[in-house]
Amino acid sequence: MIEARKLTKRYGEKTAVDGLDFVVKPGSVTGFLGPNGAGKSTTMRMVVGLDAPTSGTVTVNGRRYARHRAPLQEVGALLEAKSVHPGRSAHQHLRALALTHGIPRRRVDEVVELAGLGSVAHKRAGAFSLGMGQRLGIAAALLGDPETVMLDEPVNGLDPEGVLWVRNLLTSLAAEGRTVFVSSHLMSEVALVAEHLIVVGRGRLLADTTVADLVREAGGGTVKVATADPARLRDLLAGPDVEITGRAGSEELRVTGLTAREIGLRAAEHGIALFELTSREVSLEQAFMDLTRESVEYQGGGAGGGAGTDIAAGAGVGPVAGAEQQDQATTAGRTV
Ligand SMILES: Nc1ncnc2c1ncn2[C@@H]1O[C@H](COP(=O)(O)OP(=O)(O)OP(=O)(O)O)[C@@H](O)[C@H]1O
Ligand SMILES: [Mg+2]
Repeated sequence: MIEARKLTKRYGEKTAVDGLDFVVKPGSVTGFLGPNGAGKSTTMRMVVGLDAPTSGTVTVNGRRYARHRAPLQEVGALLEAKSVHPGRSAHQHLRALALTHGIPRRRVDEVVELAGLGSVAHKRAGAFSLGMGQRLGIAAALLGDPETVMLDEPVNGLDPEGVLWVRNLLTSLAAEGRTVFVSSHLMSEVALVAEHLIVVGRGRLLADTTVADLVREAGGGTVKVATADPARLRDLLAGPDVEITGRAGSEELRVTGLTAREIGLRAAEHGIALFELTSREVSLEQAFMDLTRESVEYQGGGAGGGAGTDIAAGAGVGPVAGAEQQDQATTAGRTV
């Protein structure tokens, strides 16, 4: 469990982390999201004591990192900075780390295999590609078999096989009951593994939510139905967790809480003709951009670059924006 309370970090005039309050719980993957420069790496560095908070606190299992007697066995961290001596082999690097914590050699061999570094374990780490360096960093993070695993942009530089490996690894670590905290600036990547999300922008907390709630708030999971008898269909579909909206005099209803299949079957049972039955999926990437738009500091210039107005105009994810264009845009977005 990681707990941040009013966590703040200033570098001169710049407030990199601004009063963050959050808790990362065990047993599931928590994604840590935010645009470039949002303060993710700074927060993670403070978790493991590589940076001192200007004010506020952050603890792991109730204690500051430095207070743990065997920190590698408490928190395994992969941070962006490569902290490997280029002249050492992967095996030597891990062995040196293991020796500081009384971790047996056997465990070094285990994590080398786990990270798929078997064939290069005795080569100089300085000659490693970006992806191999990431694998070595992840191997080091897992060395102490820690209850809390914190990885900063772990899929950076990994090939598709490596990306899949990281995904499966994170899921299985969480399933073992560990606390898994993983940063990314790509919502699409995080949404595949994370249950919880902590979203930051310009150092501030923008959302502390679940993937499911974010989708719901963004208007996902809605089904559009068109029928000749909306009033009757509305009565038939009504239920405790079902929400139905529709303009008076319109043939169209928007339903949340039921799937398109359930609605179709119920309409068929009662002989109600449907003209349209469309599930509206929402693009998580779009929801993320909507959430962080105000906080993006480093935007690309030119048409179509970055979170510009073209994206804002393309498709609002709000449940009320009912244009066909939105259905199309959000469906396309879902494929990411
Ligand atoms: N050592 C430092 N000295 C001065 N400013 C810093 C330092 N480290 C980070 N910053 C600034 O703090 C802000 C947050 O940076 P940080 O690296 O934590 O962001 P991030 O969310 O990890 O971004 P990215 O997605 O690009 O990795 C940035 O504006 C950065 O320039
Ligand atoms: Mg970073």
